[in-house]
Amino acid sequence: MNIILLAPPAAGKGTQAELLEKKYHLHHLSTGDLLRKSASREDDFGKKIKNILENGVLVSDEIIFQLLDNFMEENKNKNLLFDGFPRNIHQAKHLEKILNKKNDKLNFVFLLEVEKEILKKRITGRRCCKQCGSLYNINIESLKPKIESICDQCGGNLFQRSDDNEQSFETRYEEYLDKTSALIDYYQKKQLLYHIQADKSKEDVFQELSEIIEKERVL
Ligand code: AP5
Repeated sequence: MNIILLAPPAAGKGTQAELLEKKYHLHHLSTGDLLRKSASREDDFGKKIKNILENGVLVSDEIIFQLLDNFMEENKNKNLLFDGFPRNIHQAKHLEKILNKKNDKLNFVFLLEVEKEILKKRITGRRCCKQCGSLYNINIESLKPKIESICDQCGGNLFQRSDDNEQSFETRYEEYLDKTSALIDYYQKKQLLYHIQADKSKEDVFQELSEIIEKERVL
């Protein structure tokens, strides 16, 4: 089973990926997480990626394909969950080509829909664990950590992403409208797209995703 989570910034892709990956034993590719790892390196490549992420624009397809190729090589014959990839039609066609070569295919593209004002609130409140990557939100009561700045799961320190500010959000949101939203029509035509109202609690969104997956009985 192969799934894509398609959504604007802060709609909950990472949050739902964490839940889906555990329940359905999926192997999770977050291009954003891999890029942040690269950006933490002190070399020229790391600095270049850091700058792009902070500005909120998309990284070149060439770099993304390199990350994808490594991931596919390490996860042969596994069930895959793509979070933040593909981001444009070129990337979507590239993925299709790779899956076709393996006689594999996509099963679901979940479009997480949330209004812009809610996204802004989510983005400024997001905190991430340095150690295990768990996600929190200090603007949302049910998603606050029990102890300020400490991860409930592993006790690691929480940090705020350097692109989690209103200015970078505006650019990321524009990039989504300009380049990524074309994928909605693209996957709709392929009858793979499921619209998910994702302004509900994370548990309710997860419940909806699980019901769709189980109804289709691909597992
Ligand atoms: P990426 O890391 O993918 O960023 P993004 O798409 O902007 O998405 P986010 O990670 O901000 O949000 P999310 O949807 O995962 O939400 P989350 O679950 O964290 O990419 C970063 C950058 O890398 C891009 O800007 C680009 O430069 C580059 N990049 C990445 N992939 C690329 C590609 N394929 N091609 C080119 N460039 C690429 O939730 C957000 C917050 O809301 C959290 O605090 C969470 O706790 C909270 N929350 C989640 N669900 C709920 C809920 N139901 N109710 C209330 N709060 C919730």
